[in-house]
Amino acid sequence: MPKNVSRLSGRKGLDNSLFQRLVAGGPPEAGVHRQLAREYLLGEAVTYGAASFYDLLSEKNAGKKVLVCDGSACLCAGTQDAVRDRLQSHFKPDEIGTITCLGRCHENSAFYMHGRNYSGADIESLDEIIAEPNAVSGDSYVVESICEPPILTAEIPGVEAFYALLRDCLNRPAEELLESVKASKLRGRGGAGFPAGYKSEAARKVEADKKYIICNADEGDPGAYIDRYLLEHQPHRVLFGMLLAGYYVGSDEGVIYLRAEYPESITAIKKAIEEATAAGCIGDDIFGSGFSFHFKVIAGAGAYICGEETALIASLEGQRPEVSVRPPYPTTEGLFGKPTVVNNVETFASVHSILSMGGEAYAAIGTSESTGPKLACLNNLFNRPGLYEVPMGTPLSVIVNELGQGFSQPVKALHIGGPLGGLVPVDKIGELTFDFESFQEAGFLLGHGSIIAIPECFPMIEYLEHLFEFCAVESCGKCFPCRIGSVRGQEMLRAAIDGREKINRELLDDLLETMELGSLCAHGGGIPLPIKNALQYFSEEMREHFA
Ligand SMILES: Cc1cc2nc3c(=O)[nH]c(=O)nc-3n(C[C@H](O)[C@H](O)[C@H](O)COP(=O)(O)O)c2cc1C
Ligand code: SF4
Repeated sequence: MPKNVSRLSGRKGLDNSLFQRLVAGGPPEAGVHRQLAREYLLGEAVTYGAASFYDLLSEKNAGKKVLVCDGSACLCAGTQDAVRDRLQSHFKPDEIGTITCLGRCHENSAFYMHGRNYSGADIESLDEIIAEPNAVSGDSYVVESICEPPILTAEIPGVEAFYALLRDCLNRPAEELLESVKASKLRGRGGAGFPAGYKSEAARKVEADKKYIICNADEGDPGAYIDRYLLEHQPHRVLFGMLLAGYYVGSDEGVIYLRAEYPESITAIKKAIEEATAAGCIGDDIFGSGFSFHFKVIAGAGAYICGEETALIASLEGQRPEVSVRPPYPTTEGLFGKPTVVNNVETFASVHSILSMGGEAYAAIGTSESTGPKLACLNNLFNRPGLYEVPMGTPLSVIVNELGQGFSQPVKALHIGGPLGGLVPVDKIGELTFDFESFQEAGFLLGHGSIIAIPECFPMIEYLEHLFEFCAVESCGKCFPCRIGSVRGQEMLRAAIDGREKINRELLDDLLETMELGSLCAHGGGIPLPIKNALQYFSEEMREHFA
C-alpha cells in the first residue's frame, strides 16, 4: 500500500473520507476523481485506479435498475433464470445487471432493487415491489441454537441491561479484560482462525497517538449470511465487542466496513448505534470513565477482495483495494498507518459472552483448540435451511441431518467455508466435526462456516468453472498466479465443457500448484483447494473432460 497516499488520505481522516467521496462521485467516467485528486494532493491515476475498481461503480452496472444475484447458492438452486424472465417483463435486458452475493442463500431467487434486497417468494410480488419502492422483503429463516443456553443467538435483555456489563468493564483494568479474552482462546471467525486476544494485545503494545478498531463486515463469501444475521438481529453484540476492543487496545474510533450488498444490515447497525448512543454507551467519557469511543459505518462498493484485511484498509483510505505484503501487520501499521485491529463481525459479537461468563468458562465450550460457539448457515437445498448455533466440535452430521433435516433433493457435495473452502463429498460428512482442526486434518476448511449443498444434478465441472470465474472476477490483480492463473483455469474448463479441448491434467495440476504456492493472499492461494477436492472425489464424474 503506498504509504504517501495513506498519509495524504489520512490527513482528512474518516470524517472526510476519500473512499466515500469517490463512491458518491460515481463511475470514473463522471470525472469526480479528478477534482478529488487535486483536493487530496494525489495523482489522478490514484483516484481513477480506486474509482474504476468497484463493481457498483463500474460501467457494466451503469444504468442498471435491478441486479440479480449470481452467487454459488443461487446458481445451485437454479432459480435465477426464472427471476430474470420475470424481471424482463418490466425491464429491458440492459437494465438488468448482476451482483454477488446478497446473502439470501436460504431461499435464493435473490435480487436487488431500489436499494433493497428481495428473495424467495418476493419475485411473485414484483408488481407491488416496483410500485412501492419501500416494499419489505419476506426474508425469514430458521434461527436455532443447540448451545445450552444459547449464546450468540440469545435475545438481548434490552439495550440498557445489555450494556450494564460495559459500565462494569470500564471500572476494571483493561489488561484484566484482555486477559479474559485471551483465556477464552477465541479464534477469529472470518476464516483464518487467528487468536483474537493476541491480535488485540499486539495493537495494545504499540505506542501511537491514534489507533483504530475495524469490524470486517464485508461478508462476501457466496453462501454466507452469518454476519448479516448478527448485524441485523444482534447488532449490539457487535458494537459491544468493538467498544471493548477500543478500551483494551487504546482506541477511540471504530469503523464498520459493511458491504453495500447488505442494505438492511447498514440500516440495522446504524439504528443500533443511535440506540446505544442514546443510552450513553457511545460517545465521549462513557459513563464518566474517561473512555471515549465513536463509530463510523462505511458501505463498500462491491468488491469481494475488500474482505481481505489489507485490501479493506486500502479501500477505506480511498486507494485501489489491492492486497499488501505483510509484515507490517495492521496491528502495527494499519488504517492511515496507525495500529489497527481488524476482526470479523462474529468475532466481535463473541466478546460480550466471554466477559459475562469469563474466559475460562467460554474456553470450556467446544474443543480444546476451537473454543466457543460457532454459527453455521445452510442454503435452500436443506429441508430446514437457516442459521444454527452449535458448540465448536459438533459433528457435521448433526448440523446436516438433525438441524438442517437433510436435503430436499439428492446432493453430492457440500461446499463449506466460502469459495476458498473445501468441497466435502456427502460420504465424508460422518467423519467431520465442526471445528478448525477436524476440517484441516481431513483436507478441507472451516472458513467462516457457510454450507452450500451442491445437487447431484449440477455438473461438478461447471461448479469448478464457476469457482475459477469467481476468482478471476474478484482478483485484485496484484500478483500473476491469481490474476492470470484464474483466467487460464476458467478457459481450460470452459473449453472442456464446450467439447473444444480435453483438459491436460498435468497442466491443470501445475496451474493449481502455481496458484497455491505463488499467490500473495488466500484468494488465489485458496481457490485450488475446492478444485483439488473435486479432482480427488469426483474424478469419475469428470473423466470424460480429461485427455
Ligand atoms: C480473499 C479474502 C476474503 C476475505 N473476506 C473476509 C470477509 O468477508 N470477512 C472477514 O471477516 N474476513 C475476511 N477475510 C479474512 C480477513 O483478511 C481477516 O483475516 C479477518 O477479517 C480477521 O478477522 P478475524 O481474525 O476476526 O477472523 C478474507 C480473506 C481473504 C484472503
Ligand atoms: S492472490 Fe489474487 S487477490 Fe490475492 S493479492 Fe494476488 S491477485 Fe490479489
